[in-house]
Amino acid sequence: MDKLVIEGGQPLSGTIAIQGAKNAALPILAGSMLASGTVVIDSVPQLLDIEVMLHILQELGCRAEHVGDTVTINTATAYQAHIPEKLMGQMRSSIFLMGPLLARFGEVHLYQPGGCAIGERKIDLHLEGLRSLGAEIEEYGDRISCRAEKLRGADIHLGFPSVGATENIMMAATLAEGRTTITGAAREPEIQDLQHFLNAMGARIIGAGTDTITIEGVESLTPCRYRVIPDRIVAGTVMVAAAATKGKVTLTNTRPAHLSSLIHVLRRAGVGIGIEGDAITVGTSARPKAVERIVTSPYPAFPTDLQSQVMVLLALADGTSIMKETIFEGRFKHVDELSRMGADIRVDLNAAVIRGVSRLYGATVEATDLRAGAALVIAGLAANGRTVVEQVHHIDRGYDSIESMLARLGARIVRSAPVPDNGAVPG
Ligand code: EPZ
Repeated sequence: MDKLVIEGGQPLSGTIAIQGAKNAALPILAGSMLASGTVVIDSVPQLLDIEVMLHILQELGCRAEHVGDTVTINTATAYQAHIPEKLMGQMRSSIFLMGPLLARFGEVHLYQPGGCAIGERKIDLHLEGLRSLGAEIEEYGDRISCRAEKLRGADIHLGFPSVGATENIMMAATLAEGRTTITGAAREPEIQDLQHFLNAMGARIIGAGTDTITIEGVESLTPCRYRVIPDRIVAGTVMVAAAATKGKVTLTNTRPAHLSSLIHVLRRAGVGIGIEGDAITVGTSARPKAVERIVTSPYPAFPTDLQSQVMVLLALADGTSIMKETIFEGRFKHVDELSRMGADIRVDLNAAVIRGVSRLYGATVEATDLRAGAALVIAGLAANGRTVVEQVHHIDRGYDSIESMLARLGARIVRSAPVPDNGAVPG
């Protein structure tokens, strides 16, 4: 398994362009199944999750290729709606294919995506929403079979603003008969991106980005070419890394409006933030200040996907901070690893009390999930001495060569290099 070897204490500096958004690209790739023909998606990063999605689309009969950051999919040859269990198990975002396959083929057969390191990850809201559109869904153990002669528009209310359920229902409703209204919808920018993509294919959707989305069903959709928005979580991760290493970094290809809640937190921590067009500059030379209380909540509030990264900054702050995680029940797995690096963090149910320390120390730590892994990399960059992060495949699910991105900003980080006897870090 790959490892990342990091020599800490080097402030990050320079300019970096941010990759396209994984969490926008995945539903958009699934949504390409709603049209028959060749769809081209630009600004799609090279990530494990993207490759799994393309593999599934190929299993369904599509031709798909990913050259550079452009994906070309010919869905005309798709002939079946059975998602292989093995591939479902590799990536729970395969669930995004339910709505499109049901709308296109009138059926879809898949498996419970199951939980993961961060939580149970239920899909009841997805299934309830599709049933409201007329789908008959049977579950036998882990297997799920859905059928629908014809999907019909409905008024659907989500008791929790689930991102995935909002996206699945939106996609299924594009080809349903009549109007669908989703109230209590999630408001993430990735949902707005999906609406723009589907409308570029001829769908009639309004309201994404608000809690009420209206979809007028149409007969068919036409393939298009579309560019995905920048990844706000990768951008946020780099911003926190710049602050934690007391560096100065300019990020380009960002959407500052998508990062308002993080910018607010960083400014409360005393970090300097400059915004100019699609560029954000993060700079600080001082020790961060503690932030009394941060609560993760659905967009536009502070995102759960940046919780572990910001915890590293607070672990080095002057004072005590409290971080509350309200989205996932298992998203504090990075705390034990940070404690092994000298952090002083106590978890009480879904709240972490973070008492800032003046420095962290390098150690060998293990990534348990995607964003926890990213947090450990930030901790390694800020720590004194060497950190080895293991199980790096978790990080590769969401970051396109994280070590190359950070090395371009002056970080001393290499992948899988055997640690030489003399202790020097190559490169
Ligand atoms: C999306 O996951 C993102 N993934 C996640 O990013 C992100 O953390 C999450 O939204 C919240 O913002 C992608 O977009 C591919 P949810 P999703 O449905 O759609 C519960 C990352 O690191 N729930 O909003 O799965 C669920 O158990 C990943 O990039 C139900 O109870 O998130 C969870 O506790 C991690 N029933 C909460 O809602 C359902 O039917 C949030 O889930 C669906 C969800």
